[in-house]
Amino acid sequence: MSSIESVLKETRVFAPHDAFKQAATVSGIESYNALCQAAEQDYNGFWAQLAQSEINWHTPFSQTLDESQAPFYRWFADGTLNASYNCIDRHLATRGNKIALIFEADDGIVTNLTYKALHQRVCRFANALKKQGVGLGDRVIIYLPMSIEAIVAMQACARIGAIHSVVFGGFSAKSLHERIVDVGAKLVITADEGVRGGKSVSLKSAVDEALQMAECEAVEQVIVYQRTGGKIAWNANKDHWWHELEAAESDYCEPTWVNAEHPLFILYTSGSTGTPKGVQHSTGGYLLGAIMSMKWVFDHKATDIFWCTADVGWITGHSYVAYGPLALGGTQVVFEGVPTWPDAGRFWQMIERHKVSIFYTAPTAIRSLIKLGGDLPKQYDLSSLRLLGTVGEPINPEAWMWYHKVVGKERCPIADTWWQTETGSHMIAPLPGAIAAKPGSCTRPLPGIMVDIVHEDGSPVTDTGGGLLVVKKPWPSMIRNIWNNPERFKKAYFPEELNGYYLAGDSAHRDDDGYFWIMGRIDDVLNVSGHRLGTMEIESALVANPLVAEAAIVGKPHDIKGESIVAYVVLKGQRLEGEEAKLVAAQLRDWVGKEIGPIAKPDEIRFGENLPKTRSGKIMRRLLRSLAKGEEITSDISTLDNPAILEQLKQPAA
Ligand code: WTA
Repeated sequence: MSSIESVLKETRVFAPHDAFKQAATVSGIESYNALCQAAEQDYNGFWAQLAQSEINWHTPFSQTLDESQAPFYRWFADGTLNASYNCIDRHLATRGNKIALIFEADDGIVTNLTYKALHQRVCRFANALKKQGVGLGDRVIIYLPMSIEAIVAMQACARIGAIHSVVFGGFSAKSLHERIVDVGAKLVITADEGVRGGKSVSLKSAVDEALQMAECEAVEQVIVYQRTGGKIAWNANKDHWWHELEAAESDYCEPTWVNAEHPLFILYTSGSTGTPKGVQHSTGGYLLGAIMSMKWVFDHKATDIFWCTADVGWITGHSYVAYGPLALGGTQVVFEGVPTWPDAGRFWQMIERHKVSIFYTAPTAIRSLIKLGGDLPKQYDLSSLRLLGTVGEPINPEAWMWYHKVVGKERCPIADTWWQTETGSHMIAPLPGAIAAKPGSCTRPLPGIMVDIVHEDGSPVTDTGGGLLVVKKPWPSMIRNIWNNPERFKKAYFPEELNGYYLAGDSAHRDDDGYFWIMGRIDDVLNVSGHRLGTMEIESALVANPLVAEAAIVGKPHDIKGESIVAYVVLKGQRLEGEEAKLVAAQLRDWVGKEIGPIAKPDEIRFGENLPKTRSGKIMRRLLRSLAKGEEITSDISTLDNPAILEQLKQPAA
């Protein structure tokens, strides 16, 4: 069994400053170790106690974990609760007038909403949904821009036990249709248009188009939030204005108490192959994961101004916008627009304006903001920040260093959080007052999360070599099923060879200090002359070169070596062509040779102004592999953020 080789060495370590450590919820490594030990000694008891203290139950649970139908695990199954009650109602007596949402629109206009006001809006909209015939267990598609309404819609579904499935507003009518059909939606909530970067994006027309396709008959109603007043087609049999429905309703809606295992939502995630998977999450366990990670990883306090930049169309926008911050009674910023408009200083300007203390974004945003204006943060007062976070991809050590120095002023810990749509909440991430960070490592598992690295036959990797990242025990916020497809659920996440472990699909290695380093997706591992290499380390070596903003590595079939290495590179300056490109490509090859070793030297380098990414900002390496092989692109590229750059990436520079 050849393991995946780790080739990049990173030795920098950053411990939290004393003041941060002293004020932290989990303070010092001993406190972290004690929590981990408590979970080891009595796993069920550990989670049961947290579930009791952190969640308001309508009726308490008697059984913590039911493993009888494994891998269809059940947590707190006979307890009943309501997620919306836990996110809103339980704060009303003590902080009803506290601001829950600071919404900044694309054009900079700010709307604040208190917990009381949020409660009123959620109740009214929940009543409206009921009047439209939506009830317990019905599926509702939400296709909205980032808005107060998106959060209200999600919370309103949760309030009446309807199951929401949010579809990111950037998805095409075809992708929307696929999800509407698979989930069996009864109602769709959308907006006339969204606004991003000064431009309007039509949403209602995509819904109309999707509903005209086959198999959408189950959708009885469409509710339309009027964002721009732009012209839209109107179907009097189905369409309703949000504001009219809301205005007609009363201010209170009794929460529907649901079983802890009742699905809170289904969120589609596209794997590398096949149709998107409808990841089904629970109510009780999911909420507990969101709450504990807010406390442990974000060290969230009542005084914090929290800002997670993710769209509610992604899991990050579920756990750390729509549910987590509200469950804690926190104040958060919600942003409609994009980080680069009106210029690449927008994030920093908003941090200054709203005095954000915890800022959570993606490596792809960080890398593109470095490329577009690495000095811009210096023009803003970022002194309110006390903690930074990243999610979505491995963060390259050099991007980490920039985030640390230029944004965090060497004062703010960085939480590099590894998790997935399927895990529901953070799995591996530093507890910032306890665990020293290493740039590029997501550090150590959260208490009660039993991760490990194994070979393909399930045997543990006992040294620092790379292997498959697995979770050995079920955890509360884990995926419960793939909607309509239990067989695919078992095959994808609990393959027989792995002794019942959850297979994350990522490769990783663990260093001598027990720190985890994610090396990329298993499907992306290269095999070069018998060496199995992850993508992350070679990409990070390239990004460490001062000329490089972003890089993606893929393998291309090679007669002798098995695979050769093709590097796609975005430079900080202009894209290069001709002789200049050849020269820089040669420099970069040598650079990788020195940073890592000759084995990792790219055989071919191609320059682009950008890389092909999914709408959630992940590099599409599968597409890059096809390009490397010179194949025609036949796959659906409608979810691609920037299709135009594919032409550039067809040309080898050298
Ligand atoms: C990758 C996002 C390295 C990983 C919450 C994972 C990461 C996939 C990190 C899940 C990180 C996410 N370091 N890799 N901190 N965070 N990933 O479902 O490959 O959109 O399996 O969930 O993103 O992506 P998803």
